[in-house]
Amino acid sequence: MVKINENFLTMKKNYLFIDIAKKIAAYREENPDKPLIRMGIGDVTQPLAPVVVEAIKKGADELGVKETFKGYEDSGTGYDFLKQAIADYYLKNSGVTLSLDEIRVNDGAKADCGNIVDIFGDDNIVLITDPAYPVYVDSNTMSGRKIIYADSNEENGFAAMPDRNVKADIIYLCSPNNPTGSVYTKDQLKQWVDYALEQGSVIIFDSAYEAFITDPDLPRTAYCVEGAKRCVIEMCSLSKTAGFTGTRCGYTIIPKELTVKASDGSDVSLAQLWGRRQGSKFNGVSYPIQCGAAAVFTEEGQKQTHEAIAYYQRNARVMADTLTELGIKFTGGINSPYIWLKCPNGMGSWEFFDYLLREIQVVGTPGEGFGKNGAGWFRLTAFGTYENTLEAMRRLKELINK
Ligand SMILES: Cc1ncc(COP(=O)(O)O)c(C=O)c1O
Repeated sequence: MVKINENFLTMKKNYLFIDIAKKIAAYREENPDKPLIRMGIGDVTQPLAPVVVEAIKKGADELGVKETFKGYEDSGTGYDFLKQAIADYYLKNSGVTLSLDEIRVNDGAKADCGNIVDIFGDDNIVLITDPAYPVYVDSNTMSGRKIIYADSNEENGFAAMPDRNVKADIIYLCSPNNPTGSVYTKDQLKQWVDYALEQGSVIIFDSAYEAFITDPDLPRTAYCVEGAKRCVIEMCSLSKTAGFTGTRCGYTIIPKELTVKASDGSDVSLAQLWGRRQGSKFNGVSYPIQCGAAAVFTEEGQKQTHEAIAYYQRNARVMADTLTELGIKFTGGINSPYIWLKCPNGMGSWEFFDYLLREIQVVGTPGEGFGKNGAGWFRLTAFGTYENTLEAMRRLKELINK
């Protein structure tokens, strides 16, 4: 008789955003005449840059012509033209040199964040900062790994730091952080890299929001820290950088230097293991989408996609100014599209969610959904329209000052 993976039974029944969607649906049914402003889920609202759309169209046109038609991509790891564009971007923005075979193009970072666990033994101890993007916890729970947490809280500015008394094999870090908006400094990242090298552990560094960093002193990649290439797998996405949430493209970097000892004492390259896994389970990203992704990294692409980022950053400023004026504590919003606020009057985060929905029809995300340290905290995103952001903040001011 077939057996299921019983680890799934230990997981929370619903994914956070499904719980929220249910609450919204119930509210809408009872209040069909009250339009909601959604500042919860991290989806973007601005269209793709014109230069990206043109490149996707051109790529599609090539597929309709015999001479330029393309079927399966040979390597399935991304066309060289896109990998070169990514490598150039790292060099120009962070002074980091990558070779093309260290870069693997994917259909967005979420799948790789979840699937990377395939190349690690199930008896590894996994350390996840709390609160965190739920995929890290879920994907390790599915394979039954032991998870321990490093607290990100008000005391440490929502930037959890390593504790040398705690042993961990796989470490998840996200900077700029979803949900807290905090960003690790180079010195803080170095402490994590040193800890990982001492312990022989691997850091999965999620830099999905690196494009929102404006402070030139803050690291956009972990590889600007010495030693990181020996212990860090980095994952990035064009979803928020260039509005690819529906288009789907991202990339994972596994440096050549990153090797791990197998039980027979031999050195195994993690890039090779991941290549083996992907070779069996993934067949690459469509050609037109890779053409669009490469356009993001051109001079014009950078200019156009930064216009959308600047638009979201203006929203973040509106939110930050309002919260400051109202005396509500928050982190993020400067080098990040997320604002992480302390629920006023000691409210719980689901309580505050219900309160905002009921009173001003504004939807955010309860911090508790991201981990225990999210209790009493709440996430707002800057990905809405400017008009909606202004209106939501106007309603919030009216409500709090009532
Ligand atoms: C921290 C973080 N990592 C990865 C992702 C996945 O992005 P995508 O699969 O759209 O590339 C997200 C999406 O919201 C995210 O917040």
